[in-house]
Amino acid sequence: MNKKAILLAGGAGTRLYPLTRIVCKQLLPVYDKPMICYPLATLMLGGLRDVLIISTPKDLPMLQDYLGDGSWLGIRIEYAAQPKPEGIAQAFLIGADFLGDAGASLILGDNIFYGKLDFYRKALSLERGACIFGYQVRDPERYGVVEFGPDGRALSLEEKPKNPKSPFAIPGLYVYDNRVVEYCRALRPSARGELEITDLNLVYLRAKELHVKLLSRGMAWLDTGTQASLLEAGNYIATIEHRQGLKIACLEEVAFRMRFINETELERLVDALPKGEYREYLRLVCAEGPGAFSPEPAA
Ligand code: G1P
Repeated sequence: MNKKAILLAGGAGTRLYPLTRIVCKQLLPVYDKPMICYPLATLMLGGLRDVLIISTPKDLPMLQDYLGDGSWLGIRIEYAAQPKPEGIAQAFLIGADFLGDAGASLILGDNIFYGKLDFYRKALSLERGACIFGYQVRDPERYGVVEFGPDGRALSLEEKPKNPKSPFAIPGLYVYDNRVVEYCRALRPSARGELEITDLNLVYLRAKELHVKLLSRGMAWLDTGTQASLLEAGNYIATIEHRQGLKIACLEEVAFRMRFINETELERLVDALPKGEYREYLRLVCAEGPGAFSPEPAA
């Protein structure tokens, strides 16, 4: 089934105040680039080229200014507002027209994935049902949590449980078939007034149409919701990039290696960049050609 992507970059960023007083969270730096580059690169590496970015009316203009219509990356980006923080699942109601009869993959704007993304491409090829992931963390109570039965099938899903039934958090990366909009229309707001993504996933779980795949411990899934985790994510990216001399989630590079843009188009982008390390890096990428390195680490 054809799939389109939604990148949810909403929220007031209250936990990161005063960093978020002027700049929205998803434009804060994660080492050498704005946070939103990481989830956008994940979508692009999944092969998705139609992206709807949802954010607050206040923050949309800045995001739009940065990413434009996406044509420079060989993709199509549209924008829509979520006026109030009324839940992650509301993204599908806001994005209903954009999705049309396509399936959907949603990524949260503060989630960073680093590793081989085969698990994601496989999920995107699903014809029916939904696919979410599980990732072992030390503090599952901060997240949606999935519990598995002895047969390896998901038994329960809980949003930020006080006493988690497992160490497996649900990362902010989801894949749904095109019934997702219809299912969201039937959801009711939770006690905190939000359309919960976990409630949507429960609809698929009850219908026995939810696939839950555990990510291997070799994958890095980082979140950037607090000052400490933002710094840790930045340090992680810096460590790998310094060691390898390769950049993670460099959008121009990803577009080029995915062959969304060709050499001439990349050259034109590079020429327009200010002098500096980022430009030099992309010059090298251009000289190497698209096939020299995979834009993601091998398994
Ligand atoms: C949200 C979801 C949660 C998920 C998490 C991943 O929580 O509600 O299920 O595990 O994203 O980042 P939030 O970070 O918005 O509190």
